[in-house]
Amino acid sequence: MDFLSELCKRLTPYTAGEQLNDKKYIKLNTNENPYPPANEVDKILSDFDCERLRLYPDFNCTELSELIAKDNGLKKENIFVGNGSDEVLAMIFPAFFGKGKEGVIFADITYSFYKVYCKLFNVDFREVPLKDNFDMDINDYMNFSEKGAIIANPNAPTGLNSGISNIEKIVKNNPDKLFVIDEAYTAFAKTTALPLVKKYNNILVVQTFSKSYSLAGIRCGFAVGNENLIEALNRIKNSFNSYTVNALTQKIACAAYCAKEYYRKVTDDVIEVRELSKRELVKLGFYVTDSETNFIFASHKNKKASDLYKKLKDKGILVRYFNLPRIDNFIRITVGTKEQMQKFIEELKNIL
Ligand SMILES: Cc1ncc(COP(=O)(O)O)c(C=O)c1O
Repeated sequence: MDFLSELCKRLTPYTAGEQLNDKKYIKLNTNENPYPPANEVDKILSDFDCERLRLYPDFNCTELSELIAKDNGLKKENIFVGNGSDEVLAMIFPAFFGKGKEGVIFADITYSFYKVYCKLFNVDFREVPLKDNFDMDINDYMNFSEKGAIIANPNAPTGLNSGISNIEKIVKNNPDKLFVIDEAYTAFAKTTALPLVKKYNNILVVQTFSKSYSLAGIRCGFAVGNENLIEALNRIKNSFNSYTVNALTQKIACAAYCAKEYYRKVTDDVIEVRELSKRELVKLGFYVTDSETNFIFASHKNKKASDLYKKLKDKGILVRYFNLPRIDNFIRITVGTKEQMQKFIEELKNIL
């Protein structure tokens, strides 16, 4: 007896970066932050009252929503918090997109989870090719028939920033279309579309605690947008699981959100090491995109990316390789500490 639904059989699930335990790796494959979370997070953990776990968490994530809202001159009704930005994105697809005229567009090279969600939620999608150099052509988003678009900015895995003025042009020019801006890597670019939320009703900005806050393990992300859009996300959430964000995660995210000075320093360090590593890679014969994220996207002029990935893995260094059209000769390297990146460059030199 085959118990799988037709939908389940049709799915092509997302493939997450490897999490291997067979030896100790320098892990540069899932864009985690190499630095620890702020001390304020430690304090939350040591002071946390276990008795609190007897109760369900606040399903509105009020404290965190208020913090994010206040910071951006908005109201808590403009904020939706989820169990990682992946979950927030997962709610966005059924909340706003569907079949036919309700379809969505996104770049041909972008976060591959978008396509997975489209299949899960029966959303029609069209992939818009990036230019040869992986830049987005904003004309593609100026006049299109689908209901909206999702744009990762900076994009993954290319690392490229389309520029907030371009995002604003697109949003302003298409008041009847919805634009979801996935800003998972925004801190490393030092630009954000958040101020546009106050000006336009047709933009949702999604961010995460996983990258710049060094908190991939707590699973917390959020969307910021017009109250009606947030209400729609709550309709979906409350039709699925009211208590998506656990109590400890909410406390930790609040503490981290307030530790601005520490995270500014950590982010600056990542950016500095990124730029240093890009220069080293260029010296070794790599083409690197002008990444504004915490990863580097690189292709060697005469070494196959798949071989580099395998050889680095043998040497205990994990990077990400995507066997996908247009990018199958690139590796994506998460920016580690200065020491980790030195070791990575040394091993690369040996391999080359
Ligand atoms: C572009 C992009 N969006 C969203 C996510 C999801 O992040 P999380 O679910 O950890 O918040 C990622 C993770 O790698 C990403 O690269």
